[in-house]
Amino acid sequence: MEFSLINETIQNFEGDGVVVFSNADTVFDDENVQKLIELNHFESKSGKVLLLSLVAGFKSKQIIVAGLGDAVVNAKDYVKALSAVSVVLAEMKAKNLMIQNVEIKGFDESWVHETTAKVMRNATYEIQKIGDDSKSSSSIEHIAVQSSIDNTQALMQGQAIADGMSLTRHLGDLPSNVCTPSYLADAAMSLAKEFNLEYEVLEESDMDKLGMESLLSVSKGSIEPPKLISLSYQGNGNEKPIVLVGKGVTFDSGGISLKPGAGMDEMKYDMCGAACVLGAMRAIAQIKPNINLVVVVPSVENMPAHNASKPGDVVKSMSGQTIEILNTDAEGRLILCDALTYVKRFDPKVVIDVATLTGAVIIALGKHNSGLMSNDQDLADDIINASKTALDGVWQLPIEDEYDELLKSNFADMANIGGREAASITAGCFLSRFTQDYRWAHLDIAGTAWLSGDKKGATGRPVSLLTQFIMDKVGV
Ligand code: BES
Ligand code: MN
Ligand code: ZN
Repeated sequence: MEFSLINETIQNFEGDGVVVFSNADTVFDDENVQKLIELNHFESKSGKVLLLSLVAGFKSKQIIVAGLGDAVVNAKDYVKALSAVSVVLAEMKAKNLMIQNVEIKGFDESWVHETTAKVMRNATYEIQKIGDDSKSSSSIEHIAVQSSIDNTQALMQGQAIADGMSLTRHLGDLPSNVCTPSYLADAAMSLAKEFNLEYEVLEESDMDKLGMESLLSVSKGSIEPPKLISLSYQGNGNEKPIVLVGKGVTFDSGGISLKPGAGMDEMKYDMCGAACVLGAMRAIAQIKPNINLVVVVPSVENMPAHNASKPGDVVKSMSGQTIEILNTDAEGRLILCDALTYVKRFDPKVVIDVATLTGAVIIALGKHNSGLMSNDQDLADDIINASKTALDGVWQLPIEDEYDELLKSNFADMANIGGREAASITAGCFLSRFTQDYRWAHLDIAGTAWLSGDKKGATGRPVSLLTQFIMDKVGV
């Protein structure tokens, strides 16, 4: 799927179809379209689509009318309209399309171009069935986006973000017998080769030498060897890098604190933080901004076994702090804490970790916003702003001493759980004990990384947010 900008009227576009938008106040200059809209009693709500064929005065064969809701169009309605259009296009088998330009409240035309490319391309993602190597079935070859400006950078960025999201979704959707820590290391290596990135993988023995007993305590009950994967993109000399850390638990059975059976298959998605930081790296490597970015992925499988960690075990983290493992199912923080100590060697400008860390964040925020926690309010505000531009929501939760106290242990410097209350926040407090030396934020994506039920599948979130955050930092 290719994109270009076009400065042409909707009537004059010669192709398979033009997408035009209609809102509460729209009266089309084109009399024929306006008549047909009325004749069909089309309601201009976002998500509604009307297909018109062979309309007099139009050079293209079909017109796809998409509702937008209010006369002053809000960004979420625009994305909803594009998604509905994608569904119709998939059935139409159209190859060449034009999309009409629209004004969106609070955003400029470049934003509209970037968002259009991102949403349209992301909509062509298909789950790859195991053993089926057939290519994407999307028929669309080219989309011309109506524009009054002549700068294709935004289109390129939107495509890069969608390509990053596609990688993230693909890795997330793979079953855990395919997507192991070794598989993630290979996927990172392919990315490094394709985009000429620096690549390093630490093996179990390397991690042992560094004193990562906490991380290794999670993987020791599994036959899959653990990996600590790093990729770096250098776009701005020796500037301090932005560092992203992604939780890569390729299957979370809970360990000896075994999870209940219902829905346990979804714990293959417990590596979505890892998939997300790799997706963000892919997007950035394709955009090539003047910035330095490092992504680090601690990856393990969490299994029960005779040699697995047991409740009550005490381990010493790479930082020197000791941890009493009261619940082996709170494993994400045990691998992240050592990765967060490890990343100090990159002398980071900021560190953001991304993790499917707690079921409690789904209870608090549902599937719409990722949980945000930080030790630096300016950083949190920058992430919130980026999330509004990317339409990839976050909601901040507090990191405060009163919560941190819940991690008290009689047998170690801290316990790995703080009890039922505020479980997402105590998980954040746990991580904050390992991030005192730099500006840090944590994104709990347990609710946003994938959907359940008949829509089961990875979402590619929050690749868009992270890429936007990084692009906002270029030249700052
Ligand atoms: N990967 C899970 C969190 C999770 C659970 C994500 C359900 C999405 C859906 C994490 O490792 C975990 O098991 N967390 C525990 C922590 C508890 C033991 C303090 C949880 O949330 O129940
Ligand atoms: Mn767990
Ligand atoms: Zn987990």
